[in-house]
Parts: sequence; structure tokens; C-alpha cells
Amino acid sequence: MLGLKLPTDPRWVNIVEKNIEDILTDHAFCEQKAASTAISLIVSFPEYTELVQEMTALVKEEISHFKMVHDKIIERGWTLGRDRRDDYVIELLKFFPKGGSRTTQLVHRLLYAALIEARSCERFRLLSEELQDKELAKFYRNLMVSEANHYTMFLGFARKYGEKKEVDAKWQELLVYESEIMSNLGKKETIHG
Ligand SMILES: [Fe+2]
Ligand SMILES: [Fe+2]
Repeated sequence: MLGLKLPTDPRWVNIVEKNIEDILTDHAFCEQKAASTAISLIVSFPEYTELVQEMTALVKEEISHFKMVHDKIIERGWTLGRDRRDDYVIELLKFFPKGGSRTTQLVHRLLYAALIEARSCERFRLLSEELQDKELAKFYRNLMVSEANHYTMFLGFARKYGEKKEVDAKWQELLVYESEIMSNLGKKETIHG
């Protein structure tokens, strides 16, 4: 599914289930970061008209996801906690060299976004299938569908703006690199942990 090379160990859901409050806070900030990424793509690449249009729509959608998660936190009588560092994202960024042409930089940022969407989607699917809390399982099922569309959109833009063969090769390399990061994760109550 989604081209990912290493599926998440389903036991990760058992860890999550013991700390729903923490996963919801972490998840809320993932949605905020997705909205921020879309805004920063608009700022960095304003001449890519179609991208700017799609990113504008995406900002709204991601911030609405943030609100959905925030509402869930309030519903359960909790308060949004502080954001914590995301080791997965830090490791992922190391894959991309600094510099290169403007197109290369754009392609890298699109592939990075595509991968985070793909992994988030896979994690949401697992939550939707394995959570004992059926109400929350349904919530994750709905979100899973949107994130799958985001993954294909980002990958589509990378292929459109970059050289397709090179982009596909880079994507495959990135998937292998990501599976190595993932092999050390799956042990924390965070969306990517
Ligand atoms: Fe989202
Ligand atoms: Fe997304």
C-alpha cells in the first residue's frame, strides 16, 4: 500500500491505545505542520500557479483536520499539549542534500511531503482497523482517505515539475531510506514514532 517498503508493526496500536491523550496532541500538531508546509510551498514557489492553487486548498483542509482533532481533545475533557520533536521527520530530512537547482529543491520538498502523507495515511489505516475505541477508529478511517489523496497529489506534482525518470528513481531511493528509519520506530505514542 502507498509504495511503503516497511509496514508498521500493529503492536504500535497497543502503545497508542494506552495514551490516547498524547497521540491526539501529537496528531493535532501533524495537521498544523501539514498546513504550514503548504503555506511555505506557496511562499517559496509562487510562480508555480497550479501548485499555489492546490496548496491554498490544502491549507484549509489541513487546518480543518487540526480543528477536528482539537475538538476531539476538548470532547474528551483534555487540553492540547505542547508540540514535541518528531524524530522521524528529523531523520527523513537528512536524506535531502542542501543546494541544487530550484527545480531540484522543489522536487525534494514535494517528495518529502508525499512520503509524510503516505506514512501518516498508513498509520491512520492501522488505527482505523485496530483501535478498540470504535468511535476513534471511525474518525481515523475518514482522515485516512484524505491523506491518501494528498500523497498522490504531492507525488503527481513532483513528477510534473521534475524530470519524471529522475523523480521516480529518487522516490524509490527515498522509500528504501525511510524503511530503514522505520525499522527503529513504532514504539512511541506519536503518529510517526
Ligand atoms: Fe491532514
Ligand atoms: Fe495531509
